[in-house]
Amino acid sequence: MPYQIYYKHCFELSLQKDFNKVPADLNVDVLTFDAPEQKTFDGRPFPLVLTPSDVKDTSSTVKWAESERVRLQQLLLEYGAVLFRGFALERPEDFDAFVKAFRYEPLPYVGGAAPRTLVTGNVFTANEAPPDALIPFHHEMAQVPSFPNVLFFYCDTAPTEGGQTPLVLSNEVYKEMCRRDQPFVDQLEEKGVVYHRVLPDGDDPTSPIGRGWQSTYQTTDRSEAERKCAEQGTDFEWLPNGCLRTHTTVLPAIRTDPRTDKKTWFNSIIAAYLGWGDSRNDRKKAVTFPDGTPMPEASMTILEEVFEKLAIDFRWRKGDVVMVDNRQALHGRRPFSPPRRIMAALCR
Ligand code: FE2
Repeated sequence: MPYQIYYKHCFELSLQKDFNKVPADLNVDVLTFDAPEQKTFDGRPFPLVLTPSDVKDTSSTVKWAESERVRLQQLLLEYGAVLFRGFALERPEDFDAFVKAFRYEPLPYVGGAAPRTLVTGNVFTANEAPPDALIPFHHEMAQVPSFPNVLFFYCDTAPTEGGQTPLVLSNEVYKEMCRRDQPFVDQLEEKGVVYHRVLPDGDDPTSPIGRGWQSTYQTTDRSEAERKCAEQGTDFEWLPNGCLRTHTTVLPAIRTDPRTDKKTWFNSIIAAYLGWGDSRNDRKKAVTFPDGTPMPEASMTILEEVFEKLAIDFRWRKGDVVMVDNRQALHGRRPFSPPRRIMAALCR
């Protein structure tokens, strides 16, 4: 075993009834690791932070991830997100190998809004939206029927100012919204939502949702794009300037995670409402109820407050990897001053 795991709050956890879900052979016999940005929900730290006691080379790190992957996947289910800090992952290629160690199936980025560039293997740049743009909280690709189950983010160049990738537990958002705005939650559960977006003709890097229809649907052939829209149940209309207007099928805004039986705020409402504005799109019309009614402004204000209250904002360090359970946690991006280079791998 090349690594031991420092296991934050292992003592508190050992007092919990469901602690025995963590396999007994996990190296919990060692130490703790604290990150100042962690918060505790239901007695559990979020995110879980793991760090090696003795840093080896990349190939040992990857071998370790391979041999521990089942246990790490269980930890991901328990905690919602895991921050790997201090492992020997210096280059994007190391990150790619680390992700592959988990043996998930990579998910092609079809239907997502963010401009991204392929770096290596299954690794893309994270959203390349301008540094001053805030990317509000979202479950990755919640606006399309086929979304990734697991996300990995990697810090290639740490920002010196801002640029965090804040995380929030979705069930906590749901519970807090029920406390503060139950009628809105009821309406969402009953009706679902529809997302509306005009995709540019070619990528527009000046917009946080500037992914052109060609890269969104990975084709330059209009009929192929139409076929992929139809496959996702998305209505579409070609505009005279070559842009593509899309309306998704009705999507649930609140879901129950069958693995935990917890209700989750699984939608892109706040992301669309705050972030889907550019020269082609009016953000306040980007998400509606199925009959076209916009989201109530007062509820959007409450929702923003709830996210900020519950969010954790860890500071990126070079080589950090964050593994996010996309069904349990939402993420976003804070504005920053360059440089900052964060990469992502999306998995089924
Ligand atoms: Fe994202």
